[in-house]
Amino acid sequence: MSNITREQLLEIFNFRAACRYYDPSKKVSREDMDCILELARLSPSSVGSEPWKFIVLQNQAIREKIHPVAWGIKHPIAEASHIVVLLAKKGARYDSEFFRESLAKRGLTPEQMDATLARYKSFQMNDMKILESERTLFDWCSKQTYIALGNMMTGAAALGIDSCPIEGFDYDEVNRILAEEGLFDPKEYGVSCMVTFGYRAKPITKKYRKPA
Ligand SMILES: Cc1cc2nc3c(=O)[nH]c(=O)nc-3n(C[C@H](O)[C@H](O)[C@H](O)COP(=O)(O)O)c2cc1C
Repeated sequence: MSNITREQLLEIFNFRAACRYYDPSKKVSREDMDCILELARLSPSSVGSEPWKFIVLQNQAIREKIHPVAWGIKHPIAEASHIVVLLAKKGARYDSEFFRESLAKRGLTPEQMDATLARYKSFQMNDMKILESERTLFDWCSKQTYIALGNMMTGAAALGIDSCPIEGFDYDEVNRILAEEGLFDPKEYGVSCMVTFGYRAKPITKKYRKPA
């Protein structure tokens, strides 16, 4: 593996900025988008649970349906080259089929499976106390999706591609619209956040950060 310099790394992080205006004439290539999605897939998640799905929302009619309830997307929605909706798993309890499947793919013996699930039970119940409500469990999975979100945005920046994370929308409505379009089963998944990709229409000037 060839290393990049600290200067190059900081250049990438300084380049990444929330992009509110995309150049509609520039589209992210299929190869670059596949790479960005691969960065999401390769992202780490708590206990390797991968409690996510990623929807690439290119259908213009569906985009137009969510735009009126997505105040955080400031530009005409067609201007973003790509929009990715990050879904988080619902009901990801230690004793769910989802967890059994996630462990089974690692080839654990039945004894190892039982021991691991007992550890996860204590982790979810006592350590993190996330079994208290459906919401706390869902939010734990949503947290994992934000790791993928960050990796996608940083990776995109390294390719010279702009992005904007999006939390500014009516979650009930966006869940309803996307589920009605058959994009996911709302009993199994819910929207965690979104992210737009494209190329900035104009320079993004200032970064506001607390002093180190
Ligand atoms: C989780 C998250 C959600 C965000 N949601 C929105 C959004 O809905 N609309 C928007 O224009 N910016 C959104 N932002 C962008 C932030 O306002 C921006 O990242 C922050 O002001 C720092 O600026 P910078 O990203 O340009 O460095 C969001 C950022 C994060 C991390």
